[in-house]
Amino acid sequence: MSAPTLDALVSLCKRRGFIFPGSEIYGGLANTWDYGPLGIELKNRVQHEWWKRFVSQRRDMVGLESGILMNPKVWEASGHVSNFGDPLVDCKKCKQRFRGDKLLEEKIGVEGAAVLTLEQVQPMLLAEKIKCPSCGGLDWAIAKKFNLMFRTQQGVIEGEGADIYLRPETAQGMFVNFRNVQQSMRKRLPFGIAQTGTVFRNEITPGNFTFRTREFQQMEIEYFVAPGTEGPIFEQWKDDMWQWCLDIGLAPERLRIREHTKEELSHYSSRTIDIEYKYPWGWGELYGLANRSDFDLSQHQKFSGQEMTYTDPDDPTKKFLPYVIEPTFGLTRTVLAILLEAYEDEKLKEDDTRTVLHLKPIVSPYDLAILPLSKKEHLIAKAEELYKKIVQSSGLHVDFDVTGSIGKRYRRQDEIGTPKCITVDFGTLGEDTAQGEKDTVTIRDRDTLKQERLTIADLLKHLHPPTA
Ligand code: GAP
Repeated sequence: MSAPTLDALVSLCKRRGFIFPGSEIYGGLANTWDYGPLGIELKNRVQHEWWKRFVSQRRDMVGLESGILMNPKVWEASGHVSNFGDPLVDCKKCKQRFRGDKLLEEKIGVEGAAVLTLEQVQPMLLAEKIKCPSCGGLDWAIAKKFNLMFRTQQGVIEGEGADIYLRPETAQGMFVNFRNVQQSMRKRLPFGIAQTGTVFRNEITPGNFTFRTREFQQMEIEYFVAPGTEGPIFEQWKDDMWQWCLDIGLAPERLRIREHTKEELSHYSSRTIDIEYKYPWGWGELYGLANRSDFDLSQHQKFSGQEMTYTDPDDPTKKFLPYVIEPTFGLTRTVLAILLEAYEDEKLKEDDTRTVLHLKPIVSPYDLAILPLSKKEHLIAKAEELYKKIVQSSGLHVDFDVTGSIGKRYRRQDEIGTPKCITVDFGTLGEDTAQGEKDTVTIRDRDTLKQERLTIADLLKHLHPPTA
């Protein structure tokens, strides 16, 4: 199956209610996106599945929901005020601004671009003859560091409020609450805190649909360990993250692991790997896994003056700052990868193609669709009765569609990735044995297109929520 073009996916997302351009009726707001009825179902399912796997089903994990707004000292301590920026270059000809390292990446590789100092970016752009993607000019200004945090003001009087930031990662909420969580939950090392939520970054060059946006969602884990034990724990998380990728339907041939070079490491990290996905425009980061050592806890201890240590319950004389392994997952980026992976324009016969999303059942917006064969009232009543029974007994997400020919409805369900369709016809009612026996329905598989006749009793017995 070849990867779809991004345009084909963007078009399907709008047409079928997954993702809409933000503020569209006002001409939009560049690089903002709204999740439609099916997009939010898919995103919620990914998030729910992630939480179930990494929090609810693990004794060593607990959850948290900290605020988006935090004391600005948090961001001084974390290093975001001084270090969280990208090299910004201005095209002197058309005045457009770009990330210098991203422009260089294609020519000198990610690792090569990451080791450049701010002063080296502009000369290198000129030496490599990298032209402005907007106007084609070759007239770059000296690069400047551009801080990616969104700044705003707290307080009701304009100009007099305190400057604060919209959080650029969920991680810091977990670090500042480390002692609250550890003590209230009586957790012993190793244990982890997880949270999901919206974060903001004033990206210089957002784009590629929802791949890089200024507002997005993360699912992050801070896993606290005794110093010296982090090596095998890092490896275990690498395996767990990889398995997650496979279980949500990403193909191993479009996944790879990339180890960060020393020069490329973030200010807080002593080791980082990225899990990369092969997007239509090339390989790019999907997730990250970092060894943050005791950087964050020690910084918060220093800046807040509060103790952030852990006391060994077996030996209270042993007090230390735990190390942290951080598996981080972009939620909105996951949704994009899942959709890209699932999309296919499939040729069925010489003159017949269909668009289909081969979504894994654990993430598809609907598990099933019930399609009454015609709009006859008594047929719809029978189908509605079945709908209620299934929803109440199985907890599945079920669509109910009566508009259009049965063929068109099948194709619509294929396009939104519904794994199975159930057709209720006159056979089901006992009125036409040519269609089937009384109280039987047709069940159609999205991927194989095979149709099976089943009794309603058998169908109900075999329905259960999908598992990975
Ligand atoms: N706490 C560590 C941290 O925030 P990161 O690599 O900067 O690490 C984590 O971000 C994940 O968030 C990335 O792996 C990616 O999936 C996602 N992400 C980062 N920037 C993004 C953006 N501008 N738009 C969408 N997702 C983004």
